[in-house]
Parts: sequence; structure tokens; C-alpha cells
Amino acid sequence: MKPFLGRRILVTGAGSGIGRACARRLEALGAELILAGRRAELLRETLPHARHVPLDHTRDEDVQAFARDCPPLDGMVLAAGSLLTGGVEGTSAPAFDRMIASNLKGPWLLCHHLGPSLRDAASVVLVGSNVGIRAIPDSAAYCVAKAGLHMLAQVLALEWAPRGIRCNAVAPGPVHTAMVDARLRSAPDPAAALHALAQVNPMRRLGREEEVAALAIHLLGDESRWTTGTVIPIDGGASAVF
Ligand SMILES: NC(=O)c1ccc[n+]([C@@H]2O[C@H](COP(=O)([O-])OP(=O)(O)OC[C@H]3O[C@@H](n4cnc5c(N)ncnc54)[C@H](OP(=O)(O)O)[C@@H]3O)[C@@H](O)[C@H]2O)c1
Repeated sequence: MKPFLGRRILVTGAGSGIGRACARRLEALGAELILAGRRAELLRETLPHARHVPLDHTRDEDVQAFARDCPPLDGMVLAAGSLLTGGVEGTSAPAFDRMIASNLKGPWLLCHHLGPSLRDAASVVLVGSNVGIRAIPDSAAYCVAKAGLHMLAQVLALEWAPRGIRCNAVAPGPVHTAMVDARLRSAPDPAAALHALAQVNPMRRLGREEEVAALAIHLLGDESRWTTGTVIPIDGGASAVF
């Protein structure tokens, strides 16, 4: 079964982690992929035969230039993002700006410039976070940026509905990718920190990239055609119980 045959999908953050898992699964399901991220070599490692677009999604003029060349799209998975830790008082203005740029402005610019390239009935998935639903300590700017991203999904669902275009956000809990690894490495005892992170959800484990990709792909595909404007936690139940 190749339900995405003949569909062209853009995946950002496709050089690693959740974006890479989405790209590989979508290719297996028949999609034509455009992969974006800053490091071209990682995009090539994800899928050597896809179209690779080295792009910093925080740069308006670069996103605009990419959009000028971009063929019509049937969907987008906007997974690029990054994490800086710190509370409100401990986060400098430049660090705050980086979190907003990386996690909110980038997806905004892509939707702003690529909206006209979306085919009617396209589907867009934004990768938010369960910490954009419930606050955690020590990641203030990231939490705030992801909460804004969730609202962007809802606003776009409203704006694009007349064209039959859907927009949803997925809100993962911790998944053991490079992003989480970097955070664990900075802990005094990384193994203990990993164990503690796994205890914050009732399933008592971290998520896997493929599990988040499966939800994103459900939201991209025809089976979810009446689902739009949602923010769906995928976090082993953490946001339901804590
Ligand atoms: N892992 C988790 O526990 C978790 C939980 C909830 C939500 N998320 C979200 O899931 C998404 C994917 O994260 P991940 O866990 O898969 O981490 P990851 O492996 O670090 O992936 C992040 C990707 O984003 C790209 N990226 C970062 N800044 C960018 C920019 N300015 N322009 C273009 N691309 C950029 C990076 O590639 P380049 O550096 O090459 O550009 C990288 O491929 C992120 O939005 C993250 O916030 C992750």
C-alpha cells in the first residue's frame, strides 16, 4: 500500500530525529519528499534521492527564496526546532529570541510563504511539544514558543479551511533524539537523568521517533480528513495525569 503515491511533502528538521523518521516513513509510503534543514549532509543521509534544501527557517529572505522555487505541495511536516534551557529570570533576551525564532518564527515563515503553494486539500503538521501544554521547570522560552506554535496550528486551521487545507499540531513528550541527548549530557549524572525523564509518564519510558512519525503521518493522510485545528499530546500519558 502506497497511500502517499503522487503526493509531494516538505519535511523540515529532516536531517535527524523526528523529522528524519517522518521523511523515511513517508518515502516508504510512496511520497515525493523535499527535505529541509541547515546541514545538507544530514539530509542526504536521511534519503539520498530526495530533494535537499539547506535552509535556516528563521531567515525570512531565505524562506522566501525557497518558496519562489518550490513546486506545489500536498503536505508539510514542520519538525525543525531546538531547545535551550533556563527559567524566565535566567534566560537572556538573545536566548529568548533564539527560542522564538527556532520554534515559532521559522514555522510561521514557512506557512506564510508556502501557503500559496499548498494544493487544495493539503495537510500540514506542526511539531509542538507537551511542554507547550503544561509548564515544566527550566525551559521557559521553549515552553512559551511551543505554546505559540500550537496556536499557529489552530489559526491556520481556520484560515485554510475554505481551501480544504488542514493544519494540526502534535505535542510529543521526551523522545530520545539528539535534542534530548544534549540535555542529558549536561546533567551531573546523565544515566540518572534519563531514568528520571522516563518516570514522568505512566508508560515509564521515552517515546520513539517512529511513534511520533506515525501520528504525524496519520494527520497528513486521508484517514484524518475531518481532523483540523487539534493539538494532540503523544507522551505516554504524561499530560493527562500530571
Ligand atoms: N525529542 C524530544 O523529546 C521532543 C519532544 C517534544 C517536541 N520535540 C520537537 O520535535 C522536533 C524535532 O526535534 P528532535 O527531537 O527530532 O531533535 P533533533 O534531532 O535535534 O532535530 C531538530 C532538527 O531541526 C533542525 N533545525 C534546528 N534549527 C533549525 C533552523 N533554524 N532551520 C532549519 N532547521 C533547523 C536541525 O537540523 P540542522 O541543525 O541541520 O538545521 C535538526 O535536524 C523539534 O521541533 C522539537 O522541539 C522534540
